[in-house]
Amino acid sequence: MAYETIILEHHETVLLIRLNRPEALNAINGKMLKELCSVLEKSSNDVNVRVIILTGSEKFFAAGADIKEMEKKNSTEMYLDDYFTKEHNVISSFRKPIIAGVSGYALGGGCELAMMCDILIASETAKFGQPEINLGVMAGIGGTQRLPKSVGKYKAMDMHLTGRYMDAQEAERVGLVSRVFPEKDFEIKIIEIAKKISEKSMSSIIAIKESINFSYESNLSSGIIFERRKFHSLFSTEDQKEGMAAFVEKRTPKFSDR
Ligand code: CAA
Repeated sequence: MAYETIILEHHETVLLIRLNRPEALNAINGKMLKELCSVLEKSSNDVNVRVIILTGSEKFFAAGADIKEMEKKNSTEMYLDDYFTKEHNVISSFRKPIIAGVSGYALGGGCELAMMCDILIASETAKFGQPEINLGVMAGIGGTQRLPKSVGKYKAMDMHLTGRYMDAQEAERVGLVSRVFPEKDFEIKIIEIAKKISEKSMSSIIAIKESINFSYESNLSSGIIFERRKFHSLFSTEDQKEGMAAFVEKRTPKFSDR
């Protein structure tokens, strides 16, 4: 099947999924999420796929959810569409391991997508951030729940409230990524790691994954629902309209607290 927003590469039993919307720095739109979920759904029962790598290009993993797709939506539409909920659930409940290989920008929904994976590996050029506050909104697919679990409350508050970016070294130091490799052999290294995992017993792999996630996620589900309601409701503010319009018009937003 041909996909528009992702490219698939098979490396023995490792399936590498490359996000591919270069014109929008791999911004995640509905189509990309649908395609990603369709591949995961097919891979779940495919014995030839044992480990997945989710990656982007050298310069960008993903620069967030697609602002142009969200810009005009109001909170009712976000709520009724249940924006990204189904896709979040497909990715986060996928049973086989997913390694996020992050090079360049992983911002907003891009950082959140990487954090839905099981292992996060960065190249030296990676930049992580939750800059949604600059758009008059907040993270909406797990960022306020997963980031503090990885880096602690204070670093997570800093990232979400200032919208600043974290480089690969800082991300490794605080535990957001497990390893950092130079850009030149980055993909070779992630594929090596994925192949090493693919040689283990699938029962062990799945049991370990379920077990670690059980400890990690005991309170996460209620947090995600809480976050989602807040995120959707921000689409009734004037500041969301202003923040997203300013981005599209390439100007500084003027927030009014309305
Ligand atoms: N959505 C839609 N389009 C995007 C985008 C996004 N998240 N990020 C970049 N683009 C588009 C730009 O609009 C631009 O398109 P045009 O050429 O048509 O103007 C193109 O990609 C290239 O982007 P820039 O010219 O801005 O590239 P740059 O190198 O100057 O800057 C950047 C790179 C710092 C990543 C900048 O693009 C940026 O700040 N992007 C937005 C990051 C962001 O705010 N992400 C959060 C999104 S909201 C979210 O993710 C909500 C959630 O939690 C679910």
